[in-house]
Amino acid sequence: MKIVSTSGPLLTIFIIQIVFLPISHCRADLIDQTCKQTPNYNLCVSSLKSNPRSSATDVKGLAIIMVEVLKSKANETLNKIWAQLLRHEDPAVRNCYDHYGYMVGAFIRDIYGDLTSRGVGGNFVRYNPAQAERRLHDDVIRRVDHCRHGFGKGRQSPFGKENKATREAAVVAAAIVRILI
Ligand SMILES: *[C@@H]1O[C@H](CO)[C@@H](O)[C@H](O)[C@H]1NC(C)=O
Repeated sequence: MKIVSTSGPLLTIFIIQIVFLPISHCRADLIDQTCKQTPNYNLCVSSLKSNPRSSATDVKGLAIIMVEVLKSKANETLNKIWAQLLRHEDPAVRNCYDHYGYMVGAFIRDIYGDLTSRGVGGNFVRYNPAQAERRLHDDVIRRVDHCRHGFGKGRQSPFGKENKATREAAVVAAAIVRILI
């Protein structure tokens, strides 16, 4: 009796899946295929799926979404650094503030420009994924590492968690951008 009473709804779900699966499946495939080419599959999938735009875009669109994720991670880190700096001045914290300030204020915006061809301050920006990848390494990943290393060996960075999140987002973004080159 139990089987009979549950088979109705189950059958309905099954039919709905058959009808709608091909549409959503195709998108899920693009995210899946793209994220498999990055060194952090889980972070990639969860970051992309958190943005509804990812369900209807191409690889370039996914790269842009990942750069936006990176920007919000970097900004969260910058906010935490700033709060710490307000409490007391510290050269290592100030060093992080400078690096993250440039990232959030300029470099990530430039990377966004490389991928969207959207000009900043009236300048024409050409679509240039190779430059975006280079900037992700030179202007983001390298600066995150400079922030971390600024605390020296004996001292743990107070932004370890945020630095790691920013770095991981940048590494995934760089790997997606690489597919576009
Ligand atoms: C960064 O975060 C602050 C505080 O939440 C916010 O006011 C600011 O607009 C953010 N900046 C960017 C570039 O997202």
